[in-house]
Amino acid sequence: MQPTDLGLERPLAALGVTEPGQVPVRFAALRTHFEGQFQTVHAESEWKIFRDQWLGRKSGVLAQITDNWLKPASPELKRAVGAGLNELRAHVESKIEERRLAIESGSDQSALAREHVDLSLPGVHRPIGSHHLIRQVFQEIEDIFVSIGFSVVEGPEIETPYYNFEALNIPEFHPVRDDMDTFYLDLPKGAPSPLLLRTHTSPMQIRTMEKHKPPVRVIVPGKVYRRDNPDATHSFIFHQVEGLAVDSDITFCDFTGTIEYFVKQFFGHGVKTRFRPSYFPFTEPSVEFDVSCIFCGGAGTATSGGTCSKCKGAGWIELFGAGMVDPAVYGFVNYDAKKVSGFAFGMGIDRLAMLKYQIDDIQVLFQNDVRFLRQFP
Ligand code: FA5
Repeated sequence: MQPTDLGLERPLAALGVTEPGQVPVRFAALRTHFEGQFQTVHAESEWKIFRDQWLGRKSGVLAQITDNWLKPASPELKRAVGAGLNELRAHVESKIEERRLAIESGSDQSALAREHVDLSLPGVHRPIGSHHLIRQVFQEIEDIFVSIGFSVVEGPEIETPYYNFEALNIPEFHPVRDDMDTFYLDLPKGAPSPLLLRTHTSPMQIRTMEKHKPPVRVIVPGKVYRRDNPDATHSFIFHQVEGLAVDSDITFCDFTGTIEYFVKQFFGHGVKTRFRPSYFPFTEPSVEFDVSCIFCGGAGTATSGGTCSKCKGAGWIELFGAGMVDPAVYGFVNYDAKKVSGFAFGMGIDRLAMLKYQIDDIQVLFQNDVRFLRQFP
């Protein structure tokens, strides 16, 4: 039944109510109707509609009773209608408030349940990575050289032919360029100079000496590129650490002493070292530096018998090229070749790591297989 069916829009007289004794029956019917509706109100949205239906200022049930029953009532009825209305209002208001509180605390509970955090559940596990073996070896090398007074500098991987070759005393016709064939950048026509991916870290010798007057003592870790076919000891991208020391009185003895100190720190005191004559256009004299084979202890024979596969029976493994800086190079950086002397070296870091950690294929350093990487936490 709608409240409209209860005769609210008409005066009591029109409903046949003329005696005060007939009034309570009308209010009892309204109250029954209220209780019936009240049972169905649970959600907040239902509650709002219900509240407006009963307490709305203009057309709520109580407002209609006031306008249509109370105001036009005869003086004899007014008292009974007023009393019935007051009693009904008190009941309706208290019930509606009671339901509001119930709905609010109910929604509080469900919000609490939704936001509940179970602290006993295991957290999100984020595994912590580690430095790549090459980065770790860079760090080891840097620590050794920093401890004897060298600084660490870095330089561009994209170079001009001037820094990569010419200023290092390697003119365009020089056959050594064939050994360092590399990747050139595809530049727009009219670019001021060709650009290439550096083939070694040696261009940083020039860049450093251009910027700093002697004394200079730096090492330069970084990536280098060559068009070499990949195999167990070659990659087209690999890593080097360049070293350069220039001062007024640096001798070949300083050079050999520094290199031997580094090798013993890096590989341990058990290894033997040797220099062999070699050739680089930017050092004079030039050497290759060998270390006694750490796989066979320098014997040249494998523990299982037969020739050691790593040093191919030589008992020595080539580590890197080096030498005293060629005086011609000083001419490119405005150093006085009569007053300064120095040495330089360039180590292949991937091969150094392979030797130290007994890795027999350089390619694993670039494949990012976590089964390999996890061995070097
Ligand atoms: C040079 O690159 C000279 N700049 C080194 C140098 C510096 C000499 C300063 C004198 C003074 P070389 O081409 O030999 O030299 O390379 C140096 C080292 O890089 C090698 O001993 C080797 O360990 C490593 N290397 C060369 N090519 C590759 C390659 N394709 N893959 C991995 N390592 C390589």
